[in-house]
Amino acid sequence: MSVYFNKEAAQIQLNTTGSSYVMQIRDGLLLHLYWGPRLDDRDHSYMHWEQGRAAFSCRMEGCTGPILDDIRLEYPTWGRGDNRSPAAEVIHPNGSNIADFRYVSHTVADGKAPLCGLPAMYANAGDDVQTLEITLEDKVGEMRLTLFYSVFYELDIITRHAVFTNLSDEEAILGAALSAAVDFDRADLDIITNYGTHCAERQIERAPLRRGKTVLSSRRGASSHVHNPFLILCDSETSETAGSAYGLVLVYSGSFSASVEGTQFGAARALIGLNPEGFGWMLEPGASFTTPEAVLCFSDDGLGGLSHRFHKAFRRNLCRGKFRDARRPVLLNMWEACYFGFDEARIKKIADCSADLGVELLVIDDGWFGRRDTDNCSLGDWVVDRRKLPGGLEAVYENIHKNGMQLGIWFEPEMVSPDSDLYRAHPDWALHIPDRPRSEGRHQLILDLTRQDVQDYLYDSIADILKTGMISYVKWDFNRNMAEVGSALLDARRQCEIPHRYYLGLYALLERLVTAFPDVLFESCSGGGGRFDAGMLYYMPQTWTSDNSDAIERLKIQYGTSLVYPLSAMSAHVSASPNHQTGHVTDFATRLTVALTGSFGYELDPTAISEEERQAIRESAALFKELGGVLAEGDYHRLISPYDKDCAAWSVVSSDKRVCVAGFVLTHVRMYGPNQRLPLRGLEPDANYKERFSGRIFSGRELMGFGIDIHLSLEYKSILWIFEKI
Ligand code: DGJ
Repeated sequence: MSVYFNKEAAQIQLNTTGSSYVMQIRDGLLLHLYWGPRLDDRDHSYMHWEQGRAAFSCRMEGCTGPILDDIRLEYPTWGRGDNRSPAAEVIHPNGSNIADFRYVSHTVADGKAPLCGLPAMYANAGDDVQTLEITLEDKVGEMRLTLFYSVFYELDIITRHAVFTNLSDEEAILGAALSAAVDFDRADLDIITNYGTHCAERQIERAPLRRGKTVLSSRRGASSHVHNPFLILCDSETSETAGSAYGLVLVYSGSFSASVEGTQFGAARALIGLNPEGFGWMLEPGASFTTPEAVLCFSDDGLGGLSHRFHKAFRRNLCRGKFRDARRPVLLNMWEACYFGFDEARIKKIADCSADLGVELLVIDDGWFGRRDTDNCSLGDWVVDRRKLPGGLEAVYENIHKNGMQLGIWFEPEMVSPDSDLYRAHPDWALHIPDRPRSEGRHQLILDLTRQDVQDYLYDSIADILKTGMISYVKWDFNRNMAEVGSALLDARRQCEIPHRYYLGLYALLERLVTAFPDVLFESCSGGGGRFDAGMLYYMPQTWTSDNSDAIERLKIQYGTSLVYPLSAMSAHVSASPNHQTGHVTDFATRLTVALTGSFGYELDPTAISEEERQAIRESAALFKELGGVLAEGDYHRLISPYDKDCAAWSVVSSDKRVCVAGFVLTHVRMYGPNQRLPLRGLEPDANYKERFSGRIFSGRELMGFGIDIHLSLEYKSILWIFEKI
């Protein structure tokens, strides 16, 4: 059973195939007892003990109660003696900021209800999913807290979120409302995170947990290039293939916080949710507030096992729509081919050439609307620029369609250029603070998506174009972070709510669009991967991984992204050489090998390359059409880390173990090194596999034991293998 209640022990145990999570109710307090490998359904009360380590911390209820500072709590709040960081803080009408939630009741139901207005994992028909709802109440503070846990049995996933309801007849303020807390009874853990910047997103960092607080966060109004909304904790000896790992991922795209605190008593507290810095939410009498969802996963087969579980869960139970399972079209995006410098004739030339190469979808990026010859104007004016495209999108579409391809276009809906008709008509529609200057990023301001009229304008502008039926794909960009976060319509006391209300507005708009246009493939983008998060994946099954399209740089970016996110979510394109961002010169084979581990396409001008490269495009497009399914649904194995070595390697093994695609790239040549070989993973030991390009035959045991021999001695060269069971 996914949810087991031991009444005598007042203990609630959540079970997945390979993990258990145990809570206990004592004196009304909800304690956290355990999260780790699967346990039997029995009384685990012995897992909680109090050492009585006061160390200046207080006992509750005079001097008889527990020392909150020293025990593991399921959803810790501020004010009654737990001096670690809380998951929630409530400010009451009398100014006090105490919350003391005590257990009232719980229920268990099959399935999982959607979260109101927020992206979240869902249960497919036939999935074994149960939802536990625990109700707690702060009687003095007159506030109800409901904790939700959905247990995805086969996926080894538990999702969590919290709902606060004001039971009093006065307003209260939520000063912090995170999605999940996990108290560990130990701090000898490593913490693994993603950090980065524009063009170098999601780099991996692993470090032993320190005393004090390690915080990954964003207050930028987007999940950001800088940190990613997840964290992984693991044993120091946990490797790709062995050891325990705990993952917490937030399904959210705005400002967040993910932290771990090593405590004075050698324990650790992990927290994940909305960034409490700058957050405040007014709860009127009777009103409720729902936190975003956190996804928890435990793996006892290393980081690889953790990634496999997250990949599967996000692919099957977070991404939606017809593209969730469909092989993604081979696309050619014209951004790096033309930037803003295109017209109808240039598009026609590229389209005619692309069709002959096997491209299925041609994307016109930035610059097709308003008078946008550079990035300093026209965002918000979503009307075709007839100077560039005199026949409108119709003429472009006709030619693309005649060539047997589909048409995609770029939008940056959430932004407005000060030099735009929209801004001239509605200056109040931008986020701003009266009497203060408006800071521009890339010459643009952010629209106030908390406003219904702004949402409606954007819906209508985009829908007008999508309704024509000409557009099969939308790239949805977001190219700056927030400053002067103010809304003209909201009451002064509610201005702290804007960063979150903005995302509620964005999610509402996206929900309307993806519902109205189910045949359109939406791709998220934010200067590349500035909003690569599980929240956006709910609406758009793929994200432009980085504005850095260089194959060598992408090795680390895609490797880091794969900790949590599936390959199908990562857009990866073969771009021109020398690369436009780094100047690196790489051969087509290397660019292909790297781009194949994502939703595949090209970011170059096919009319400006050699016939030899065009032939390589033909062959690679055919390859992705054949293998795209395996690459999307197979198990991804990180084989050699580009962070540790002068090379990188990975493989994808189909779920039936019949096909294995593997790649290796040499990033730095060292003279006189040892022979290089690459042991593979996840194959059938007793099966024989034939490698497609060399015709060599190996047993699965050989490939996993000794591995494949590598004969490469030139920098940036690569090998792509396709092993097929015979
Ligand atoms: C940033 C994106 O990441 C690029 O791919 C491109 O679409 C530009 N914006 C266009 O302005």
